[in-house]
Amino acid sequence: MKALTWQGKRKLSVETVPDPTLQQDTDAIIEVTSTGICGSDLHLYEVLGPFMTEGDVIGHEPMGRVVEAGSASGLTVGDRVVVPFTISCGSCWMCQRGLFSQCETTQVKDFGSGAQLFGYSKLYGSVPGAQAQFLRVPHADFGPVKVGEELPDHRYLFLSDVLPTAWQAVAYADVKEGETLAVYGLGPIGQMCARIGRHLGARVFGIDPVVERRNMAARHGIEVFDGGEDTADEIRDATQGRGPDAVVDAVGMEAHGSPVGKFAHDVAGLLPDAIAEPFMQNAGVDRLAALHSSIDLVRRGGTISLSGVYGGTASPMPLLTMFDKQIQLRMGQCNVRSWIDDLLPLVEDSADPLGLNDFVTHRMPLSQAPEAYDMFQEKEDGCVKVVLDPTAG
Ligand SMILES: NC(=O)c1ccc[n+]([C@@H]2O[C@H](COP(=O)([O-])OP(=O)(O)OC[C@H]3O[C@@H](n4cnc5c(N)ncnc54)[C@H](O)[C@@H]3O)[C@@H](O)[C@H]2O)c1
Ligand SMILES: [Zn+2]
Ligand SMILES: [Zn+2]
Repeated sequence: MKALTWQGKRKLSVETVPDPTLQQDTDAIIEVTSTGICGSDLHLYEVLGPFMTEGDVIGHEPMGRVVEAGSASGLTVGDRVVVPFTISCGSCWMCQRGLFSQCETTQVKDFGSGAQLFGYSKLYGSVPGAQAQFLRVPHADFGPVKVGEELPDHRYLFLSDVLPTAWQAVAYADVKEGETLAVYGLGPIGQMCARIGRHLGARVFGIDPVVERRNMAARHGIEVFDGGEDTADEIRDATQGRGPDAVVDAVGMEAHGSPVGKFAHDVAGLLPDAIAEPFMQNAGVDRLAALHSSIDLVRRGGTISLSGVYGGTASPMPLLTMFDKQIQLRMGQCNVRSWIDDLLPLVEDSADPLGLNDFVTHRMPLSQAPEAYDMFQEKEDGCVKVVLDPTAG
C-alpha cells in the first residue's frame, strides 16, 4: 500500500510499504477514506524528530471502511468507522474511569508515556499511522465509532481527534452559559474550541495572528483579535477589566513569539539523535508565549485549559503569578471515547451546529501529502484544515 512516511526533519515521502495484517483477534483493518493532518503532526515534522525513525508511517485522524475484522473485534467487514487517535483497551483501571488516554494496557512504559497513539513516534509506541491506504486498528473492540451512511466523511471524520479534543478543552475550562472564554490559537483545534464555547452559551474571544483563521472564526460568532500589543487590554476592557472566566491554549509548544524556546528547538534539531533525545527529555524547553499570555489574561480565580501539546521537561513557569491569581490549570491528551456520546448528535444534526461544512479548506490526494504539510505549516492559501484522500488517484 501507499503511506506517508517520515524520512527526516521536514522530510516526508509517500512510499510503498507492506499492507497491515491482523495480529490479534481484537484487531481490524480499515481502508482509509479520509485522514486529517493535525497540528500535532507538525511537532513530529520538526520538534519531536529525535523520537522518530526513518520510514515511520504518520497520521492519526482516520475514518474508513472495515476490510478485515478480527473474530473478537465486534466489527463486520463493510462497517463505516471513525478511529480515535488514542489507542485504549476500554477495560483497565484508567479506562474504567474514562481516562482513556492513560490506558494502562497500552501505556508506553519505556518512555513514561500515556496510551499509545497512532503514528506518533517512539514516545507513543511507534504504532504505524493513518495517513495511508490501510490501517491496522488495535483494540478495535473498543475504539472505533460506527457511523451511518448518509453524511459525507467531513461530517464524521473529526470525531477521531479535533472535536473530542476541543470538547474536552472546553469541558476542562469549565465555562458556563453566559460566561466568557478566550481561545489562543485558531488552528483546527482552536476553531472548534471557540465554536463549542459558543454552542454552550459562552461569549468567546479568539486570538490568532493569521487573518484567514480569524475570518473563519468570525463567521461563527467569535470576537477575534490578532494577538498584537493591544489584544489583552481589549479583552480585559470587554470583561469589566477582569479578564475572561476561562482561557483555552490551543497553540502549544510551537507558539510564535518565544525566542528562548525557539532557540532550544533549533538546537535540538541540529544535534545528532543520540544527543538530541536526552536533550529534549531532560532540558527541553517549550515556546511558551501562548501559555504565558493565557496566565496573564485569565481573570483571578479563573481556569486555564491546555489542549496545545507541550513537550518540554524544564519549561519555566510564572508560579508566583499563577499562585497569586489563584489559577486553575487543566490539560492532557484527549480521552476521545468519553465525549463521543455528546458529539455524535451534533455532527449528525442537519443544522450543523458546529459548522463542519465550513472547516475543511483543502482535500488532497495522499500522493500530495508532503506539499499539504508545507502548506499547512506555512498557513498558505488560506489553509486551516487539510484532509488527505488515500482513495484518490
Ligand atoms: N490535547 C490533545 O489531545 C491534542 C489533540 C490534537 C491537537 N493538539 C494540539 O493542539 C494544538 C493546536 O493544533 P492545531 O491542529 O489547531 O494546530 P495549528 O498549528 O494549525 O494551530 C496553532 C495556531 O496557533 C496560532 N498561534 C501561534 N502562536 C500564537 C500565539 N502566540 N498566540 C495566538 N495564536 C498563536 C497559529 O497561527 C495557528 O493558527 C497543537 O499543539 C496540537 O499538538 C492536542
Ligand atoms: Zn490530531
Ligand atoms: Zn485501558
